[in-house]
This record gives sequence, C-alpha cells and structure tokens, in this order.
Amino acid sequence: MSELSVDHLLGIKYLKKEDIELIFKTADHFKEVINRPIKKVPSLRDVTIANLFFENSTRTRLSFELAEKRLSADVINFSAASSSVKKGETLIDTVNNILSMKVDMVVMRHPNPGAGIFLSKNVNASIINAGDGAHEHPTQALLDTYSIRERLGSVGGKKVVIVGDILHSRVALSNIFALKLQGADVKVCGPKTLIPKYIESLGVGVETDLRKALQWCDVANMLRVQNERMDISYFPTTREYTQQFGLNKKILDSLDKEIVVMHPGPINRGVEITSDVADSEHAIILNQVQNGVAIRMAVIYLLASKIKQ
Ligand code: NCD
Repeated sequence: MSELSVDHLLGIKYLKKEDIELIFKTADHFKEVINRPIKKVPSLRDVTIANLFFENSTRTRLSFELAEKRLSADVINFSAASSSVKKGETLIDTVNNILSMKVDMVVMRHPNPGAGIFLSKNVNASIINAGDGAHEHPTQALLDTYSIRERLGSVGGKKVVIVGDILHSRVALSNIFALKLQGADVKVCGPKTLIPKYIESLGVGVETDLRKALQWCDVANMLRVQNERMDISYFPTTREYTQQFGLNKKILDSLDKEIVVMHPGPINRGVEITSDVADSEHAIILNQVQNGVAIRMAVIYLLASKIKQ
C-alpha cells in the first residue's frame, strides 16, 4: 500500500491495518530526519495548515506545529479562548472563513465528540482529529503503539493494560482500536464506575485488581483522571483512587517481570503514577512525546499527498 485508504484522520476506527503500517513506515523515515542536524524537509512547501484548538492542549498542539514546520508547511494557529467563537459564530462558519484564506488542511481539537467527522462532511479541506471530547485521539494512539513497537519490536501478540479513567478517555478508545487492529491483547483496569459497560463488546478484558492486571501485561498505559469531564463523583477520594489504581515503585518491584510503563501526559504525579516510576527506565513517556512529532509528520505528509492529486 502506498497511500492511505482515508482522506481525513478522524479516528482509528476508520483505518485499516495497512494504513497503520504505512504511517509507521513513513514515521520511521521522519524519525531519522528529525534526528539529523538539519531537521527539516521541503515536502510540504506549498501546503497551508490551520491548527484549530477549541480545547486546552500543550503537547499535542506543539507537536503538530513542530511536525508541520519540519515539513516546511505554512502554519496558522487559532485557539478558542481568543476567537470569535465566543461571539456566537458556528463551527462551519469559523472554519470556512479560515479556509477562504486558502488553507489545505485543518488539525482540530474540539470538546464535542464527532466534531471532526461533522467538519469533514461540511468543509472542503483534509481534517485531522487532534481529540474530540471523550471520543477519539487517533494520533495519540498511533504514537503510543509506535512507541510499543519501538520498545518491544512489535505490537501484535503483546499484552497491554490501559489503567484508569476509561469512561472519559479518548486516548483509551483510540488505543483500544489501534492495539486490537495490530493484534495486541488488551485489558482495561480501573474503578468499575469508570469502565464503560460496552467495553467487552470491543474485545477488551476487564480487570479491577491493578496488581493482577500488571502481572498479566507487557505494557501498562496509565491514564489521567479526566476531572474536567466529570459532573458527578466516580470514586470517593483521590487518595483512595491512588491507593487502588496508582502505579508506584513498590508494586512495580513486587512483580516477577519487567513491564513497560506509558502515559499520554499530562501526568498528575502522585495520583495515577509516582515520580519514581514516571522517571524510571521502565517508563517510555518522553519517547512517546518524541515519537509524536514523527508520527504527526507521517500523517500530515500522507494526507497532503492525497490532496494534491
Ligand atoms: C490527552 C488528551 O488530551 O486527551 N493528552 C494528550 O493529548 N497527550 C490525555 C489527557 O488529557 O489526560
């Protein structure tokens, strides 16, 4: 396969295994590029990309912007806090106004699930979903599984447990799709109140005992509790959550195996993971961030090559 089967990256749900293989192969190349003294290629010199962030972001926004600049694209940035969205403009009007300035691609983070899908049907540009509410965060799942492949040689056949707030996490859903597509064995672990009822229908196991989950897995992906998406209380106290589902050095050392520890960031140190684990050699958290740039370069490059045809 030499091109993606999709024109937009809206979710991992819409990708084929071959799409992921192509993205990874392309990312391998860009990873080599960004480790050169001159970290830039002229590939996207005639492409303009708008980064529209209607929700807070640090890593993802910077990573997309860096990826675009390393590909020599022209970049414009927009964040909802300083825009006319607050004046009542619709999403389609906002985006069409931006597109009329000859923009080819839109990277969007939005609090509403499905916002990217909606946009892709209503505006004439290639859309990349950089997180839509609690729905999907496809580039995060691509960089996460790419980082597993880098550390363990492959994703297929690996046992991965995703720990924490599965219910409100777009990282969890996209990771589940990406891991299953690549043949990994997946379990989720967390308080029952934060595990959606439909989860088993995705072919995912449920384990509510963290120690058992860790003993089973090759990789543990520790998620942040998404307090900003909670309007009720899902567990008694943060202290209790940490006692039951927090990863610390003691529990890691008590396992009779070595596991790889991941976190999408931002970390709440001392809540879902302690500093001595986050900063240990088991953790690949900063590798994930580094791989994010190469993965996003690959996705943008592959989608842009479809626009030009
Ligand atoms: C995640 C997100 O925004 O969904 N962060 C990220 O993109 N790296 C996870 C989170 O906010 O906990």
